[in-house]
Amino acid sequence: MRAPESGRKTLPKKAPIHTEEQRDGLRAASRFNAELMDFVRPHVVAGVTTESIDQLVYEYTCDHHHTPACLGYEGYPKSVCTSINEVVCHGIPDNTALKEGDIVNVDLTTIVDGWYGDQSETFLIGEVSDKAKRLVQVTFDSLYVGIRAIKPNGKIIDIGKAIYDYARKHGFEVVREYQGHGIGREFHQEPGVPHFPARGAERSVIRPGMCFTVEPMLNAGTWKTNLDSRDGWTVRTADMSLSAQFEHTIFVNEDGPEILTLTENGPQEGHKFK
Ligand code: MF3
Ligand code: CO
Ligand code: CO
Repeated sequence: MRAPESGRKTLPKKAPIHTEEQRDGLRAASRFNAELMDFVRPHVVAGVTTESIDQLVYEYTCDHHHTPACLGYEGYPKSVCTSINEVVCHGIPDNTALKEGDIVNVDLTTIVDGWYGDQSETFLIGEVSDKAKRLVQVTFDSLYVGIRAIKPNGKIIDIGKAIYDYARKHGFEVVREYQGHGIGREFHQEPGVPHFPARGAERSVIRPGMCFTVEPMLNAGTWKTNLDSRDGWTVRTADMSLSAQFEHTIFVNEDGPEILTLTENGPQEGHKFK
């Protein structure tokens, strides 16, 4: 989600505190979204076009009588975002075929009974460069570093601090113009979740009952990005360096964070990319 400093209109709704019953709705939506990722994962291989991944997402979601959240969202034309190599986020599926050596992020969001679930993974297509593999590994690990920084009654800024320090220690830059977001009956709501220690997050408190995404985007070069002026969506690194991202939807329980968008089939905390 576009960070407020970079011109996005302010988020609707102050961060909702969900009841246990609402938590069940959130769990079900994220669970479906995670199963959709399980379905898509084996198809993300060399030779497959991003359009065909979009088709799979659309059909699986509709077959289960749910709604692809991206389709028509602020005019977005497809059901999924597919972001290859220097594309940071919001890549639009087209007739581009994935090829050996690419890295590609697949970002899925579904609406189930009015509740949203949102997650993404970056995939290695065949053998990739050592640098690409390291970027993907550090980005994956940074997501968990961020999730482990979530403390009930702690600060949102601690998530960004933890991710930023981890990324920089490993030689990568953190995108600032896009951030995580509250999620629930809206796709994007409060709290905004920057992945660096942003001033605006200093006073934002993490409360039990909140639900939000953590979705760090790390770049091999500059943190700066450019928005494609032709399609109005595709975000690329300003220096065309590689970018990777992982995302989960997180519910804050009294005793800590619960990752909602994960099944036993997805890459677990500590996963090593080969
Ligand atoms: N799923 C993205 C996010 O993590 C948002 C995509 S909006 C779209 O917030 F319109 F580009 F699909
Ligand atoms: Co997403
Ligand atoms: Co998101």
